[in-house]
Amino acid sequence: MRGVRAAYQALLASGELRPDPAQAAVVERLQALSEALSGPRRTGLASRLLGRPGPPAPRGLYLWGGVGRGKSMLMDLFARHAAFEPRRRIHFHAFMLETHSRIAAARASGGGDPIPAVAAGWAAEARLLCFDELMVTNVADAMILSRLFAALFEAGVTVVATSNQSPRDLYRDGLNRELFLPFIDLVETRLDVVALDGPTDYRLDRMAGLPTYHAPNGPRTTAAMADLFFRLTDFPVEDRAHVPTAELDVGGGRTLHVPKSLKGVAVFSFSRLCRQPRGAADYLAIARSYHTVFLVGVPVMGPDMRNEAARFVLLIDALYEWRCKLVIGADAEPEGLYPAGDGRFEFERTVSRLREMQSAGYLAEGHGLRA
Ligand SMILES: Nc1ncnc2c1ncn2[C@@H]1O[C@H](COP(=O)(O)OP(=O)(O)OP(=O)(O)O)[C@@H](O)[C@H]1O
Ligand SMILES: [Mg+2]
Repeated sequence: MRGVRAAYQALLASGELRPDPAQAAVVERLQALSEALSGPRRTGLASRLLGRPGPPAPRGLYLWGGVGRGKSMLMDLFARHAAFEPRRRIHFHAFMLETHSRIAAARASGGGDPIPAVAAGWAAEARLLCFDELMVTNVADAMILSRLFAALFEAGVTVVATSNQSPRDLYRDGLNRELFLPFIDLVETRLDVVALDGPTDYRLDRMAGLPTYHAPNGPRTTAAMADLFFRLTDFPVEDRAHVPTAELDVGGGRTLHVPKSLKGVAVFSFSRLCRQPRGAADYLAIARSYHTVFLVGVPVMGPDMRNEAARFVLLIDALYEWRCKLVIGADAEPEGLYPAGDGRFEFERTVSRLREMQSAGYLAEGHGLRA
């Protein structure tokens, strides 16, 4: 089995990646972790029952830094090439949603504190958990994280996480933050905290100079957007018919089909998002789950399309609040998208946001809820 170091070197050799000493150092750390994971292990429960501690679970990693530094790329390489089972790579937001629903199910079936049981369930599914985009934005997550992670570590789970924030900056200014501080201490004592915060935003490099707003719709727009999509995702253009899809959990037991979903980039049509009865919860789920959204086929909306226009406003608001990058194909420039109709006055804000979302300053910001 090829390890993460060999995989990284192959990408350097092919010219896919540019040499970056900070990344190379992280690769060495991940390679060492891979090797440690393939050694003998103890599980918390077994060792307690047997009274024999055995070697502890290998120490994981908390990789943080600015946007586009290569954190997710390195974690994906590691997760793909770690010769170790069972392992699971999951977006942190999805992990927390699933955790809350398991807690609710455990409560409904009675019994005491649900957190140890839920943590044991995760530990049974994966002894290596890789979390992409760890961030804490709501009090419900903040209040359980320290006990949840303590239980995961106790059960012998190794955690690797990426984040745009250092542990000390997580949930900054959050409600009841003092109750969250034990989680920060736990992360700092149980994980190696490594900054990957070099000078280069590689994602911006890949988008640099390329327009993100394309008008009007047509073959040229389609070709330019496809080019940008394959550039951002490193997906081989020859395999374009096989770009993965996803079913996004939008809460309330509902899902949303994502026709293209790869490396934090999603592609949707205007029809799917704005002509169907979708709403704020759907848009929020998209904004939280993807750092970049491609929206194709945006028409000029007449007065008879006030519902579509209202949904479009909500969609752009959600993407803007979460600092998602938006690549859009439309029949007109922002000013001409909804020239007349109910809510035209409010639409001005959307026009202004669409403009700002094309600016270098906006594109350089990290993905995450605006402070
Ligand atoms: N050394 C490199 N040379 C060229 N491209 C790179 C390099 N490192 C990363 N990239 C590319 O840059 C893009 C951004 O990388 P990645 O998604 O891993 O960033 P990130 O640190 O996870 O950012 P974010 O915090 O926004 O999630 C990806 O397309 C990735 O393949
Ligand atoms: Mg990332």
